[in-house]
This record gives sequence, structure tokens and C-alpha cells, in this order.
Amino acid sequence: MKKIVTINRHIMEQERTLSDKPSGDFSNLLTQMAFCAKLIGRYVNKAGLVDLLGKTGNVNVQGERVMKLDDLANQTILRAFDHPGYIAGMASEEEEDVVLIPPHRPRGKYILFFDPLDGSSNIDVNVSVGTIFSIYRKITSGPDAKMEDFLRRGVEQVAAGYVIYGSSTMMVYTTGAGVHGFTLDPEIGEFLLSHENITIPDSCAVLSCNETNYSNWSDTQRAFIDHIKFKREDRYAKTTGRYIGSLVSDFHRNMLYGGIFLYPEDARHPRGKLRLLYEANPMAMLAEQAGGAATDGRTRTLELQAKEIHQRTALVVGNRREVELYEKFYQGRHLT
Ligand code: AHG
Ligand code: MN
Ligand code: MN
Repeated sequence: MKKIVTINRHIMEQERTLSDKPSGDFSNLLTQMAFCAKLIGRYVNKAGLVDLLGKTGNVNVQGERVMKLDDLANQTILRAFDHPGYIAGMASEEEEDVVLIPPHRPRGKYILFFDPLDGSSNIDVNVSVGTIFSIYRKITSGPDAKMEDFLRRGVEQVAAGYVIYGSSTMMVYTTGAGVHGFTLDPEIGEFLLSHENITIPDSCAVLSCNETNYSNWSDTQRAFIDHIKFKREDRYAKTTGRYIGSLVSDFHRNMLYGGIFLYPEDARHPRGKLRLLYEANPMAMLAEQAGGAATDGRTRTLELQAKEIHQRTALVVGNRREVELYEKFYQGRHLT
């Protein structure tokens, strides 16, 4: 009989590899995230039945229209983490400012970033959406989290992951010891290990970007895309185009099939569109842990120093070889 590994057991084993005397807080934090995934997954699955589709009528700090499920997913995570004492503060795509744990509540030694619902433009048409999270250790002294605890470099992450609400619900995470995927068994309500030690295949099977931005890209960015599409050598022979418009789904597919995802800066998004702390960094850590790479064209994503919590960045992530080739084009080092 196949060994069944629940996510809770896996998380506890990972914590033991990180520390000799684990307090359990780190495990509890990740386990709580898996619990949020089940709650949000339940809302996502029932959305069409219980008036959860559509917009709230509000606009978030990014100037984007907030969907009802964005709001519900955000509240779910905020409430799950504001009392158990695992974290000192959190930052969400849907919250303008950082959320600190008030002094009358227990405060922990971690900082949590999250995108409660990623790909929300896909909600109303029943296409996969996700949740992204990223965890850091608090670095300042005293129980209160300060801005310094939030403005970090991705290399400092102690864990990162995402949940994908697809044909099944999956949680994929890393603590720096490989990337592991768990599928929710709805009959027992547990995430079970289904994808151990995920590595990105070497071949670039998928090219994934929003090509309507083509006219807004620079000549070098266009040259890279043209190279992959038209001037391919044998190794690109099987590259196909796939773009969902939901980072979690696009990333998940590329990690399993091999591929490159690009949301570079362009004339409309001069700093890129995706957010460094709760979109790019967690995906970059997962990609590197799976043998891939992530860059903004000049700098490894995980080396970028955050200056504000909602900072945007260009993101090119996936197969190491193609990410490095993008850097060559971008920096004018590719000779055709
Ligand atoms: P969110 O729904 O959290 O705001 O994120 C949307 C992001 C990301 O999921 C996706 O990769 C990208 O926006 C799609 O942007 P375009 O619609 O411009 O292609
Ligand atoms: Mn997002
Ligand atoms: Mn979102």
C-alpha cells in the first residue's frame, strides 16, 4: 500500500530539518495556511451558487477593482493569523498598509505576505485562481514588527508557496529543501503528498506571456520572444504558447511541463505589473528550488531589495536556460 503523507506531517518534518529545537510555530503557521486554503477553496467552488461572483464595487490600493472573492479570501487569511501568535505582522495585496498584531494579542517571530486571490479576473468564468504566500523571520528586536521587517530581499524568505484552486485544490510549498505538492482529498479534507520534489523539466515546453503587450515591449524584449517563436533551434521545437492570466496557474503548469513565464516591464507597466513581495519573490524561491531561475532582466529576483510593500517588478521565471537567455537579450549580450 502506498505511504500516505499528510501536509501536517510533512511540514513538521521540514521544520525539524530547519532547527534543532523547533518551537512548532513555523509548522503551525504553514498548517494554518493549509487550513485557509481549504476555506478559500470551499468559497471558490461554491462561488456561482451563493452570490460570490462579481465585484464589490471597491478599488484596492493598486487601483484594481476588488472582486467579492478577493475580499473574502483576504478576510479569511487576516482572521486566521491575527490571533494564534505565529506572526508579528502581515502584508496583503488587498491591504494598503501592513497589518500589525496588536499588543493585547500574542505575537510571533514571523512575517507573512500574501496575495489572497491571484488571477481574480478569471473568477467569473470559472478558470483556476490561486493564493500566494511568503514567510520571513522577523529581524528587529522587541515584539513589534517594524517597516524593516517587511522591506526585505527574497533570499531571506524561510518559506513560500501557493494554492491552486483548479480541477483539484493543490498546495505547493518550499522551506528551502525542495518543492513539494499536495492535493486536497475532499473526502477526508486533508492535503496529501502527491508531487514530491518537483523539478522543472529542462526543455522549454511552454512560452507564457500576454502577447497583447508586444507593441509596448522594447526591441530586445520583442527579439527574445521572436527568437523563441520563430528562430528556434531543435530544443525549442516543441515549445507551445499558453497563457491563462493567473500567475499561479501559469507558473504551476510551467513548473510541471517546463517553460518560461514573462511579465516584463513595458510602456504601460514601466516597473512591471506583478508585485515583488507577494507574487514575484515566492515564485522565484519555488522556481530556484525546482532547478529554475527568476530575473527582472538585470538582477536575480531574489536579490532585489524591497523599498515599499506593494512594489512592482518585472518577472521572467521558469527554465534556467531560457531565463538566462532572456537576460542575455535584455542586456544586449546576445549576438544573432
Ligand atoms: P491579481 O488577480 O492578484 O491582481 O493578479 C493578476 C496578475 C497575475 O495573476 C497575472 O499573471 C497577471 O496579473 C495578468 O495580467 P494581464 O491581465 O495584464 O495579462
Ligand atoms: Mn496576483
Ligand atoms: Mn490578488
